[in-house]
Amino acid sequence: MSLSQRIDAVLVDAFAACGLPTDTARAARAARPELADLQCNGAMPLAKATGRNPREIASAVAERLAGRPEIASVEVAGPGFINLRLADGFLSETAAEQDDAPAAGIVQQQGAAPVLLDFGGPNVAKPLHVGHLRALVIGESLRRILGAQNIPTVSDIHLGDWGLQMGMLISEIRHRMPALPCFGTDPALPAGALPLDMDDLQRLYPEAAAASKADPARMAESREATAALQNGDPGARLLWQALRDISLRAQRHDIDRLGAHFDLFLGESDVQALIAPMVAELRGRGIAVESEGALIVEVAEETDAKPMPPLLLAKSDGAALYATTDLATILQRRRDQAPSRILYVVDQRQALHFEQVFRAARRAGYADGIDLVHVGFGTVNGPDGKPYKTREGGVAQLRDLLGDAVDKARERLAANPERLPAGMDDAGLGRLAEQVGLAAVKFADLSSFRTSGYVFDAERLVSFEGRTGPYVQYACVRIASILARGAAQRFEPGPIAVQAPAERALVLDCARLPDVVASATANLAPNEIADYVFALAQSFSRFYNECPVLAADGDAVRASRLSLCRLVHRVLSQGLWLLGIDVPERM
Ligand code: ARG
Repeated sequence: MSLSQRIDAVLVDAFAACGLPTDTARAARAARPELADLQCNGAMPLAKATGRNPREIASAVAERLAGRPEIASVEVAGPGFINLRLADGFLSETAAEQDDAPAAGIVQQQGAAPVLLDFGGPNVAKPLHVGHLRALVIGESLRRILGAQNIPTVSDIHLGDWGLQMGMLISEIRHRMPALPCFGTDPALPAGALPLDMDDLQRLYPEAAAASKADPARMAESREATAALQNGDPGARLLWQALRDISLRAQRHDIDRLGAHFDLFLGESDVQALIAPMVAELRGRGIAVESEGALIVEVAEETDAKPMPPLLLAKSDGAALYATTDLATILQRRRDQAPSRILYVVDQRQALHFEQVFRAARRAGYADGIDLVHVGFGTVNGPDGKPYKTREGGVAQLRDLLGDAVDKARERLAANPERLPAGMDDAGLGRLAEQVGLAAVKFADLSSFRTSGYVFDAERLVSFEGRTGPYVQYACVRIASILARGAAQRFEPGPIAVQAPAERALVLDCARLPDVVASATANLAPNEIADYVFALAQSFSRFYNECPVLAADGDAVRASRLSLCRLVHRVLSQGLWLLGIDVPERM
């Protein structure tokens, strides 16, 4: 049980003993720490509801609280705030328990149903661009936040690996490399034999698209190639597999660099077999209806303030669409993973698409028992406030943006050689710059609530001062170094005995981790963790200024403070891990 859960239980007892309803028996951090550790504002709403005097209610509760061992003193203030000062012994004890607890005290769920996370979602033949950064960073953080609570997760990248785009590429390759196998030919392509890399594909794709657009005959051929692929033509399949492999290999480089983990690398292609029966079934049940030659599902609801266009299930030529695939993927996931929720971490601009898919799934009964959630996010912007572009004005690739941040981190680190760990060579500096640069990018990305966009300013992100990833990282490294210096002098951490105000504040801050994780989960908001680790790093800094550790006055105080340092280090590294941020050994 977390500290706040324990105090809430004490409050619930006290409210109940006074014959009061207990739903407002909750404590929060005190607004004025010099007066109290926690405060309960529950008397005021009760007074309003019953017409009683709030101070009178608060006093009755306070009387019941006074004798509790968790509480050192209680006071009623203002209109009826109940101010609590926690007992030193209770604080010390909770700190020691958290120091021992797995996952730094994050509450472990038992028997939770699995959550499926759909994020990343790159398309074949396209390198990862800036837009994928947020999906990968936010998705991975949510995956870790759930996993840390023992909630089973399955992450699936959901590759865009099907449809006309693939047909266009195949027909382009047929024109350029007539010697290669293609649809309608005997497949004879040994694995890895396609003489193309990601850079080639990246050039090829826009040219393929342009060729089809410009020439109706080419477009017809692209459609033919698409159909051949979808009907299992061996040559087309082989070529498609090779294209998919080449691009996934390149994309995985960026994905691994960001530390995102996927359990499944499934794609749109994997649900093809489900589409025809699904469409037939929806048609048979009258859920899919014909309209102007196309097949649609009406998803408007009476309460809609704005008109809601129908979901387009199949075009007049019968070709399945993005929404069709997403609908079939829900069926597949229900069958294979039986998730209780599916979280789609995808650009906010796809909100309408997901609303349509979710409504259609609910209408068809495909989402029974599954909570479908679009976890949308805003854009990464350049200094001009518009979506981030390269200097030449093109779509910036993810590796360029990461490269910029790592270069800036390196410059900053190299500018203060006296602050670098002794004996660090160039390769070591490179590794450190990578960790610091990525921390900067991830922290900036996770810092504000996901639906707001943010300006990517590499220079500012890598700063060691202010609300940045490197600042929090540095706090963590500094604590590790205090612990290491302590160990070198044979100082052992010992029983925690909280005394100084900065120590109380630090213990209370550490104890918030489980509550913050619970709230970040409820709101699908990793930014709450980012705010938290930053505040904790600041709290540590105040503690360290006010309370000498290695030079503490007396062995017992030093031992207690060393344990506190160890606790903060655990909580901070756990918090950074939840954000996907690595802590360097030295920096
Ligand atoms: N490939 C898609 C795109 O690039 C993103 C996929 C998101 N996931 C999904 N289930 N639709 O826009």
